[in-house]
Amino acid sequence: MQIGIIGLGFVGLSFASVLGSKGYPVIGVDTNPEKIKMISNNKAPFFEPKLDLFLKNSLSKSLIISTNTKDTLKKSDIIFLTIGTPKSKDGYIDLSMLKKAAKDIGNSLKNITQKPIIVIKSTVIPGTTDEIQKIIEKTSGKKNGNGFSILTNPEFLREGSAINDTLKPHLVVIGGSEKNSMEKLKKFYEKLYGKKIKIILTNSQTAEMIKYANNSFLATKISFINQISSLCQNIAGTNVDDIAEAIGIDPRIGSAFLKAGPGYGGSCLPKDLSTMIKFSSKIGAEPILLEAVEKINENQIEKIFQIINKRLGKLKNKQIGILGLSFKEDSDDIRESRSIKLIKILLKEKCKIKVHDPKAITNTKLIFKNKIIYSNSISTIIDKADCIVIMTPWKEYTKLVSNDFKNMKKKLVIDTRRIFSKKKMNIEYIALGIGDN
Ligand code: UDX
Repeated sequence: MQIGIIGLGFVGLSFASVLGSKGYPVIGVDTNPEKIKMISNNKAPFFEPKLDLFLKNSLSKSLIISTNTKDTLKKSDIIFLTIGTPKSKDGYIDLSMLKKAAKDIGNSLKNITQKPIIVIKSTVIPGTTDEIQKIIEKTSGKKNGNGFSILTNPEFLREGSAINDTLKPHLVVIGGSEKNSMEKLKKFYEKLYGKKIKIILTNSQTAEMIKYANNSFLATKISFINQISSLCQNIAGTNVDDIAEAIGIDPRIGSAFLKAGPGYGGSCLPKDLSTMIKFSSKIGAEPILLEAVEKINENQIEKIFQIINKRLGKLKNKQIGILGLSFKEDSDDIRESRSIKLIKILLKEKCKIKVHDPKAITNTKLIFKNKIIYSNSISTIIDKADCIVIMTPWKEYTKLVSNDFKNMKKKLVIDTRRIFSKKKMNIEYIALGIGDN
């Protein structure tokens, strides 16, 4: 069975690399020539653990990289669309790239006899699969279930563990109306993951909504624990991690996604929440809870800023070192990263900013250029700083000890992820979510 994957971002490239490494015949398509060049040279255009290894392996086996959608469509039995659906300027979802691909697919379908299964893997709001179906039908003159078929198959992988999640997903969701192609896709996944994999078959709108409900719930858990963290901050002796551990043992709650911090960032949770809020309003349903989740998330950065402001007093010309720029560890992605938000606020206050991150400095330079100082050495950031803020829980930061901060001007460390909370710190150490600071 020949597979086509259109769009080689996190989801597309991880999927293509895993399938190729297992020997599946795969054509990976992207329209960006620079990306194609890098990928063809065994290099992923972004950092993701294990991805380069799997990419290299798959290119040496059965993965072919191409820019030709029409040719891929002709050859493939199943075409996965893993095209970016970024946040638009008004906070809604931008479906323009997906719609453009749908038109290209429709035009290509006109002149071929093959009947591919087109699978939307990109995150899309309920109703999009129907919309894409209509675009393809209009441009191709063919009908769903006849000249092609269209399904939706949301993806749940996380950055930083994209390969592991693709190798072993917790669930596969297939949405559609055309039973034969749903069955074929189900068989494809059972062959890939074994018969034990949990597969949910439903209609496309429900499948689309499952993805949003999933991410909305994850964001809700994070904002919930961040709300508790803010309360703890004001109750002497309380520790949010002990509380998270205890409530996480209750099987009705579960321990995952209860790590308090500076708030959720990244390319998915903030975008999906904001899209769901706008979508709810559009369809006349008041998104009370989701709005609160988003508000708590936005407030986290303001809370961190208030702590810095309170401890340092006048902020102008104060040297602030930021440890961690990516939205989470094991990633170079700074999209919606809380660090970037905090730096913007501190720059407005005319602070002098020095930053460190094991992977995300190149991306950060594109935003701040020479407005801040970058270093690959943690001690350079600490040296003479008035305050150090730990924003991303990279492993290397957890190895720091009290003595590593001895060259600071004012020995103030604000730890938004509580990576040192159990260590003895002989400095002014403020851990978000631990009372009595
Ligand atoms: C998320 C979903 O988890 C994934 O299923 C979906 O496919 C894409 O969106 P991702 O954005 O890669 O994945 O990262 P995730 O691990 O969910 O973390 C998102 C943000 O929440 C990060 O900024 C992270 O630091 C933060 N977070 C996560 C917390 O603050 N506390 C937690 O307990 C978990």
